[in-house]
Amino acid sequence: MGDLKSRFLEVYSTLKSELLHDPAFDFTETSRQWVERMLDYNVPGGKLNRGLSVIDSYKLLNEGKDLTSEEIFLACALGWCIEWLQAYFLVLDDIMDGSHTRRGQPCWFRVPKVGLIAVNDGVLLRNHIPRILKKHFRGKPYYVDLLDLFNEVEFQTASGQMIDLITTLEGEKDLSKYSMPLHHRIVQYKTAYYSFYLPVACALLMSGENLENHVDVKNILIEMGTYFQVQDDYLDCFGAPEVIGKIGTDIQDFKCSWLVVKAMELSNEEQKKLLLENYGIDDPARIAKVKELYNDLNLQGVFTGYESKSYDRLNKLIEAHPSKAVQAVLRSFLGKIYKRQK
Ligand code: IPE
Ligand code: MN
Ligand code: MN
Repeated sequence: MGDLKSRFLEVYSTLKSELLHDPAFDFTETSRQWVERMLDYNVPGGKLNRGLSVIDSYKLLNEGKDLTSEEIFLACALGWCIEWLQAYFLVLDDIMDGSHTRRGQPCWFRVPKVGLIAVNDGVLLRNHIPRILKKHFRGKPYYVDLLDLFNEVEFQTASGQMIDLITTLEGEKDLSKYSMPLHHRIVQYKTAYYSFYLPVACALLMSGENLENHVDVKNILIEMGTYFQVQDDYLDCFGAPEVIGKIGTDIQDFKCSWLVVKAMELSNEEQKKLLLENYGIDDPARIAKVKELYNDLNLQGVFTGYESKSYDRLNKLIEAHPSKAVQAVLRSFLGKIYKRQK
């Protein structure tokens, strides 16, 4: 695995260098330096789980076959396209959510002199993806399917982000509209497609598969992605910033988080009143009151219960899948996201 990661990082350098010397734009030294710093700051600094899982999945789907160096390169390049997509979403997400840190450093738009130039950097990050695909996949039989996949997944993610944002609109602060079905819809679109379905779909396309024949795999991955975002919501409040690399903002941002939906479900009238009075206000004392209520309601315990139930359910769904190779792919994801279950 260590080997794979270093190969993966080498491919990053290759892709970056191709973009920095893109013949379609005559970069000045200053512009090349900006792009390089922007890429290094935003693309490779995370856990790289999404990107690495393309290669992982491709290997498992082609079990028994020795991969050529071209296949490994291409799987890495697709992995990086997902990391580029993620960087693009995160740069913009942090502006929209008013976040402070990401991956243990200030959000890109908080870096001195960057500010709202970060918006255009997000657009550039997004545009790099079809450029990478064109350069390395143009001649492949699955090229059109890849372009279509990235477009569809980007559409789903941006739509999820839209629902996430418009449900918080000022002046309509009404917690009673926050329900599990609404939460489910938001997280499925904003997180599950790009984080879970996309890497496996890339590996399937590279393996010559037709995605229409793998709707069952997609459904399982979407369910895993849903759990993953519930965990993200949980960590926004209960995670240690040093560990998760970011400081939560869901409470002051009036987000339709799993925690607030659960809290509304479990609260008595008095507790509901407390939530209504304190949720969605950027004031440390009010945030502390919300967290206190979450503790009173034992939301940590409620989350742990949800976690083990969803783990068991996913395990059963995977066991029931007819293909051993697909089972292996899905198990690998499961092991990574439910660390505490192992
Ligand atoms: C954003 O969800 C998902 C995307 C970037 C598409 P969050 O807003 O919960 O993500 P974090 O917590 O800031 O990472
Ligand atoms: Mn965010
Ligand atoms: Mn979050």
